Amino acid sequence: MKCKVLVILATLLLISCSKDSADENIIHNKEIDEITVGLKTYAIEKGKFIGNLMRDGMFDNLQVNNGLTDNLLKTEYNALVLGNKMKMSNLLRTRPQDPFNIKIGDINTANIDKFIAYADKYDMRKRGHVMIWYNQIPSWLKIEAPEWSAQQIYDFSKSYILVLSSYCKGKIDEWDVINEAIVNNGFREDTWYKIVNTQANSNGEIGYHNYFAYLFKWARLGDPNVELFYNDYNIEAFGTSKNNFMRTFVKKLKSDYSAPIDGVGLQSHFKINLTTNDFISRVGKTIDDLGESNFIANITELDIRICNGDTQTLEDQKKAYKNIVSTAFSRDNCKTILIWGPSDNDSWINSHFEGCGQATPHDENFNRKPAYFGIQEALMAL
Ligand code: XIL
Repeated sequence: MKCKVLVILATLLLISCSKDSADENIIHNKEIDEITVGLKTYAIEKGKFIGNLMRDGMFDNLQVNNGLTDNLLKTEYNALVLGNKMKMSNLLRTRPQDPFNIKIGDINTANIDKFIAYADKYDMRKRGHVMIWYNQIPSWLKIEAPEWSAQQIYDFSKSYILVLSSYCKGKIDEWDVINEAIVNNGFREDTWYKIVNTQANSNGEIGYHNYFAYLFKWARLGDPNVELFYNDYNIEAFGTSKNNFMRTFVKKLKSDYSAPIDGVGLQSHFKINLTTNDFISRVGKTIDDLGESNFIANITELDIRICNGDTQTLEDQKKAYKNIVSTAFSRDNCKTILIWGPSDNDSWINSHFEGCGQATPHDENFNRKPAYFGIQEALMAL
């Protein structure tokens, strides 16, 4: 009898002990969740993509910064773009045998493959940046292109885009077909392709609109399902001369030239003192205006820099990040926001804007900043 009582007591003790440790486990797991649940968890719930870029250093060595950048990218984000490695200067570094009939063998496809493999491993949306840009082109092109005829510019661009988009067919979700072709209220003139505006091609066609429309058509020919973008900076706020020119340009390209253009990439490299409520609501107005003409409007290179002389704090930066994310994502035609730099340690701002920095949601030690929680709050409130 005594023995039976003892067994029952021991069993009860065991049950209560294991219940305690189960409770502890639940609490413990919750704490881990709060630390490791990334921004993407909230974005996925709302059907959105929040992304970042992979810089060259990490591309060359995934373990750069003791693996902290890698960890951050795969934990926080569900969209990815390469900082430089898919620009023409990297994909077409060596002069093709025939630049007017580029073959897949001329392209450094290893860069593309590596990008796709990484992004696929973590289920990330893949953004291709960039097909045609005046900047970061191979040195041989810089030397040769000024001598080319308009038709040669067309042939070069056509074979490059066709090869690239067919190679990436079904693997890249969206492409920047053209980047930064506008300055203020006109097209940029100092480009390697400027001849298309003053000389006709062999069909007798002339002008930037005609050339740009073809770029989109070739990209679509290579991959019928990929989303195609025009991407630029300082076009975000509604009503500036560059913004007005951009909106007129993309609408004309689609309606008068039948260009298969799906959207506009608003780069969004912002300086903290400009991110007033009025400014951000004008970004919302641009997204709405583009939406009325059936354009997607994604935020493609977001950073908010704080510069010497700015009186704004990291708390102000949090408000700005929160405001832009909720403004953009509350619109149906904005599905993706990509930040241009995983951490303040990995940002182009430090080397390109003197006296400026602290532009990203993670600090130099890869810790979450107020800005991070601004984005998180905006995503949760969607
Ligand atoms: C920047 C890269 O981040 C830098 O590493 C590089 O030195 C210069 O280009 N607009 C764009 C991006 O479309 O490609 C640029 O990226 C930033 C501005």
